[in-house]
Amino acid sequence: MRAVVLVGGRGTRLRPLTDHVPKPMLPIGHRPMIARLVDRLAAAGVTDVTLALGFRPEPFVEAFPHGRVGDVVLHYAVEPEPLDTAGAIRFAADHTGIDGTFVVANGDIVTDLTVGDLIDAHRRFGAEATLHLTPVDDPSAFGVVEVDRSGAVLRFVEKPAPGETTSNLINAGTYVFEPSVLDRIPTGRKVSVERETFQQVVADGRLYAMPTDDYWIDTGRPETYLDANIDLLNGVRAERCEAVASGAHVAGSAVLDSSLVDAGASIGEGVRLTASVVLGGARVADGAVIERSIVMGSVGRDARVRGSVIGVDGAVADHAELVDARLPESG
Ligand code: GTP
Repeated sequence: MRAVVLVGGRGTRLRPLTDHVPKPMLPIGHRPMIARLVDRLAAAGVTDVTLALGFRPEPFVEAFPHGRVGDVVLHYAVEPEPLDTAGAIRFAADHTGIDGTFVVANGDIVTDLTVGDLIDAHRRFGAEATLHLTPVDDPSAFGVVEVDRSGAVLRFVEKPAPGETTSNLINAGTYVFEPSVLDRIPTGRKVSVERETFQQVVADGRLYAMPTDDYWIDTGRPETYLDANIDLLNGVRAERCEAVASGAHVAGSAVLDSSLVDAGASIGEGVRLTASVVLGGARVADGAVIERSIVMGSVGRDARVRGSVIGVDGAVADHAELVDARLPESG
C-alpha cells in the first residue's frame, strides 16, 4: 500500500516557528510529527510514502538522508507552485506512479486512528474515497460532514449556523482513495480537496466516511501544537514520552510542570517551565519563568514569558516580560 502525505503548506499560523522549520518537521514528544505519522501508516501496511512538498522541501530531504523512516521508503514530489490540497495529491501521485488504492494524510494531524481500520471500511463500503471523521464540541468554525446510516456522505456544511445541521463530525484529514479520484482533479491549478473534489464524489454517491473518537488534534495553531505535546507527555494517549530528551541540558534546580525540553536545548538554574515546549537549540537563562509558550530562540535571565511563540531569531532580554506575543514578528 502506498500513501501521499501533504506537507507543502506554509504553516502561517505557527509563525515564526515555521519561518525556519516546516510544520510537519516540528517535534511532538521530541520526534518530528512526520516521522510519527509515517510509523502509524507503516502499522497499516504502508510501505511507500510520497511527501507532497512545496514550500521549503530541503529540511525533509536533510532529515531523512537515506530516504526512509524505519522500513518505509520516502519519495519526494516538489510542486513548482502551491497547488492546494487536491492539486498536491494529484501532482504527488502522478509524479511517483501511484496507480492503486492509496492513503492520503495531512502532515499536521496527530491522532491515534488505526489507519488499517479506515482501509478495511473503505473496502467494505466499496467507496471511491473514504474519509476519517472526528467529533468536535463546537462545529461552527469547521466544515461539518453529514453521513447516513450506511456511512455514505450526504453533504458538507461549511461553518454551520446553529440548527443548520445535527452533525458535529468534521474531516479529520486521513483518507483512502481509489486512483479514479485522481482523474477528477484538474492539473496545473490550485484545487481544494474539500471544496471541489469531495463535492464531485458526493454527487456520484461514492464518498463514504468513518467517524471515530480516537485521540485527534490538528497541530496548526500554537495552542494545539502545545496540547499535542503535553497530551503525549501526560499519558492522555496510548503511548507517552519523557519530559526531557536525552541530549537536553536542564539545570538541577529548574522546575518543569507539564513541559518538554528537546535535545540540544539548555535550561538554566531556577527556571520554571509550565505547559511549555522548549525546542532544540533554545537557550533559557537562569531564573526565567515560562508559561504556555513555545521557545526556539533565547530567553534572558529572570525574564517572564507567557502565551508566546519565540522563533529561532527571537531573543527575550534579561528581566523582560513578554505576554501573548510572537517574537520576532514575521510578515
Ligand atoms: P496555515 O498556513 O497555518 O493555514 O497552515 P498550512 O499551510 O499547513 O495549511 P493547512 O493546515 O490548511 O494545510 C493542511 C495540510 O495540507 C498540511 O499538511 C499542509 O502542509 C498541506 N498543504 C496545504 N496546502 C498545500 C499545497 O499547496 N501543497 C502541498 N503539497 N501541501 C499543502
